[in-house]
Amino acid sequence: MTLFTVDAEACARDGLCAAVCPAGCIVCAPDELPVPHEKKHAYCIECGHCVAVCPHGALRLDRFASGPVSLDRANRPSLDQVEWLLRARRSMRAFRPEPPERELVARLLDLTQYAPSGHNARPVEWVMVSTPEAVRTVAVAVAQWMRGEVERQTPLAAALHLPGVVGAFDAGVDIICRDAPMLAVAHTPAQGITPAEDGVIAVTYLELAAAGAGLGACWCGYLCAAARHDPRVLRVLGLDEDRAVRGALMLGRPARRYAAAPPRTQARVDWL
Ligand SMILES: Cc1cc2nc3c(=O)[nH]c(=O)nc-3n(C[C@H](O)[C@H](O)[C@H](O)COP(=O)(O)O)c2cc1C
Repeated sequence: MTLFTVDAEACARDGLCAAVCPAGCIVCAPDELPVPHEKKHAYCIECGHCVAVCPHGALRLDRFASGPVSLDRANRPSLDQVEWLLRARRSMRAFRPEPPERELVARLLDLTQYAPSGHNARPVEWVMVSTPEAVRTVAVAVAQWMRGEVERQTPLAAALHLPGVVGAFDAGVDIICRDAPMLAVAHTPAQGITPAEDGVIAVTYLELAAAGAGLGACWCGYLCAAARHDPRVLRVLGLDEDRAVRGALMLGRPARRYAAAPPRTQARVDWL
């Protein structure tokens, strides 16, 4: 398979595709069509910048079935709108009981494919725990792990206040999954270029996309901790032990609205 196909009619021979390629995979001599670099074509990381930068839609990466995804400039959000979303996103801890529509959640998950990842490896995969009953099973498995930590009086039990969390769970108050109707669990291979960072960024993309869609979301940190320490939790998620959970979100229709954004201090910054 070749690296890319160029529409010779459409190509303006402007060299933009070669200029943006982060790995130098494309050569474009003046007024010539772009061609794959003899050696460096092998370093393509499939970032698609060559496709996206071309104003004429002249280039297609052969590894992708589809071409550029059009961006309607008229839909570009203003900084005020972006600010609104970033300020308005909250950790939602009260959910309506019905799970959000699967089509909507699938759309949001597809957006996480646009998150940055080291070498554009995009190693993140998802387990969607998609019914309240299944979420309950996960919460029970997490509580079981917590109980072991509490019994052994581990430093983690103290640091995460696990006696109180388990006590509440046993009394019918779910601080672990907050009775969410759905969980999104991001996992990657244990090894890779930057899998931990990639996982956290993908979850953050999903959290922001959920806020944009009017869904409530909250990091499920206890599940992440349990999955790190207890292979039984991985099994409940249907994951093998060579997978690492990088983040998890509770998801659902929000049962509360916030009237305003909370106060925050200014960013602590050293300008060098
Ligand atoms: C890695 C991580 C783990 C978290 N785990 C939990 C959790 O297990 N339960 C919970 O209620 N909130 C959890 N949170 C949410 C934080 O408490 C929340 O972001 C913080 O209180 C600020 O509120 P805001 O997100 O509404 O701005 C977690 C957040 C992060 C980033």
